[in-house]
Amino acid sequence: MHLKGKIAVVTGGARGIGNAICHTLAEHGADIIINDVADADDSSIFIKEIENKGVKAHYIKADISKTAEAKRMIDAVVESMGQVDILVNNAGITRDNLIMRMSEEQWDQVISVNLKGTFNCIQAVSRYMIRQRGGSIVNMSSVVGIAGNAGQANYSASKAAVIGLTKTTARELAGKGVRCNAIAPGFIDTDMTRRLPDEYKEKLKDMIPLGTFGTVEDVANLVVFLASDESNYITGEVIKIDGGLFA
Ligand code: NAI
Repeated sequence: MHLKGKIAVVTGGARGIGNAICHTLAEHGADIIINDVADADDSSIFIKEIENKGVKAHYIKADISKTAEAKRMIDAVVESMGQVDILVNNAGITRDNLIMRMSEEQWDQVISVNLKGTFNCIQAVSRYMIRQRGGSIVNMSSVVGIAGNAGQANYSASKAAVIGLTKTTARELAGKGVRCNAIAPGFIDTDMTRRLPDEYKEKLKDMIPLGTFGTVEDVANLVVFLASDESNYITGEVIKIDGGLFA
């Protein structure tokens, strides 16, 4: 898939799925802006790795849950790169607890990063993508946003809301040539899932028809497809990538 000349912003790109997305988009020719809330100290290492693929790479530290920071980041991208073609809203957090025990802080933090952060970045890129009359936005939802999950009221609510936000964005911006889709991963092998107890992971694998957790590259390949012109006629869609778990 050809992404040469495209400028892609990936939120939460410092590790996990986001980092794989940065690498895979770069392999297909896109210049990459890696955003994360983490300090940029060791970012020079993965910036070099990405640049070695023959594209430009920059790191912008910003907390996307803060409206002004998200806007500042996107404005800086357009100022330095001249345009923004692809936005991957990947940054996300969990603060799991049962409903009865969930604190106001746990609820607010997750909604603030996963939902408000996604909205903030969409709002910030919209005016540029509308002006360009083109762009692709890919939002990271989750299968638990479709099916729910005990212990994740805040997370599953945020990921369900991301689906509503995706469909609304798709409808609002379709006439301007901008597409917006969501990905709903099942269990992917990352720090987020490595924290689960081994016994629970084995039980989960028994429930997954394809018998294993997905890889970060599996998700990144789907992002590349949705970001590229090969998916030109797809918008407002939610694609599960879960080994058949919720087939
Ligand atoms: P991760 O925890 O490894 O990486 C998330 C990244 O987002 C981190 O680098 C973190 O610093 C960054 N981040 C957190 N808050 C931020 C903020 N306010 N502003 C900017 N960056 C911020 O997570 P992972 O596993 O790579 O997940 C990536 C996305 O995929 C998340 O949205 C997650 O909810 C979603 N997902 C993951 C699944 C999995 O099995 N790992 C399954 C379904 C969805």
